[in-house]
Amino acid sequence: MKTLPNTQLFLRQGIVELGWGHPDPAMLPVDDLAAAAAETLARHGRDALAYGPAQGPGRLLEAIRARLGRLEGVTPPAEQLMITGGTSQALDMLCGQLSRPGDVALVEAPSYHLALRIFRDRGLRLVSVPGDVQGMHVETAAALLHMLRSRGERVAFVYIVASFGNPTGASLAPDRRYTLAVIARREGLPVIEDEAYGELWYDAPPAPPIYNLMPGGPITRLGSFAKVLAPGLRLGWMLASPDLVRRCVGAGVLDSGGGVNHFTAHIVASLLEQSRLDGHVERARASWHSRRDTLLAALARFLPAGCTWSPPLGGYFVWVRLPAGLSAAALLPAAEAAGVSYLSGERFFIEGGGQHYLRLSFSLLSPEQLEEGARRLGEVLRTALGVRR
Ligand SMILES: Cc1ncc(COP(=O)(O)O)c(C=O)c1O
Repeated sequence: MKTLPNTQLFLRQGIVELGWGHPDPAMLPVDDLAAAAAETLARHGRDALAYGPAQGPGRLLEAIRARLGRLEGVTPPAEQLMITGGTSQALDMLCGQLSRPGDVALVEAPSYHLALRIFRDRGLRLVSVPGDVQGMHVETAAALLHMLRSRGERVAFVYIVASFGNPTGASLAPDRRYTLAVIARREGLPVIEDEAYGELWYDAPPAPPIYNLMPGGPITRLGSFAKVLAPGLRLGWMLASPDLVRRCVGAGVLDSGGGVNHFTAHIVASLLEQSRLDGHVERARASWHSRRDTLLAALARFLPAGCTWSPPLGGYFVWVRLPAGLSAAALLPAAEAAGVSYLSGERFFIEGGGQHYLRLSFSLLSPEQLEEGARRLGEVLRTALGVRR
């Protein structure tokens, strides 16, 4: 009988898997979470094992508010905060609150491909907004909004990863953040700001989140413990207008089942109360910083002329542009036969585009594997281009 998997990650023998955007399992804070879980059961066991309040347990809401206040200088009011089952669950929940099937969602080109799946599952029509190394062209988003509205279409929201995006690693420039906040308010346009990688900066912190420019307004900010602690926790948080938080908290599913991932939320509250998160984030940052540098150096050494990339200042990914004439998807079978894999660019675009790009992740593999992966990729590209070393 086939063994059923215990994790989503599936690594193939003999292939350097540069495609997975998962953290290295060796970096997951098992000991910190064991201590937090023991404390939760010893001191909060009866609360943690009961149904939870729909907004999330007060202990965790307080701990997140205090941490944001300490890190960002502004403590968000409790009525603007809610615990989520991670960003993916929050995106699905927000689709339910902000959209109807057939509405349009404006997304970046390229955009986090699995968010696009969530929006499609909800019957949304996706319209992409072009961008560059400074992030989305926000004025183009406003022009598209007017055009779509003039045709009688309903635009439900804009979805954006403003800091260290997936797949490009690019961040939205500070002036564009401001302009987008102004457009959102002027047009009554909800913006969903996915901040999955905001804390994972390697050179300097990113610009403040768009949400902080206009707290409690049309911008909804999604934080996740997936990248700063562990994805299996399925836990995150949402900052939004008090009205939107009220509507989400009032959903029937939470009335019936209580707040999402309540037991895990108590464990993470204990971890935060024990001041264990900041140390872990610092260790994770240092490790990924060095892996990023290793991958960038290996790409510079092994990839043929004509390949280009912008060094990401944070996050998990390097977005490589191939020389003209090469298609990442067409090359993938040869790459895997040569023992290296990646995600090809068109997955991150809605309709066509991205053929000349591939996404490499430095979050999962060791420095040695990253170097070997870059070497194998270089060989494959040279063969495809007909150039010798
Ligand atoms: C941009 C972005 N948003 C959200 C997620 C998933 O977040 P969560 O695990 O909290 O659902 C990912 C994971 O890769 C991501 O890259």
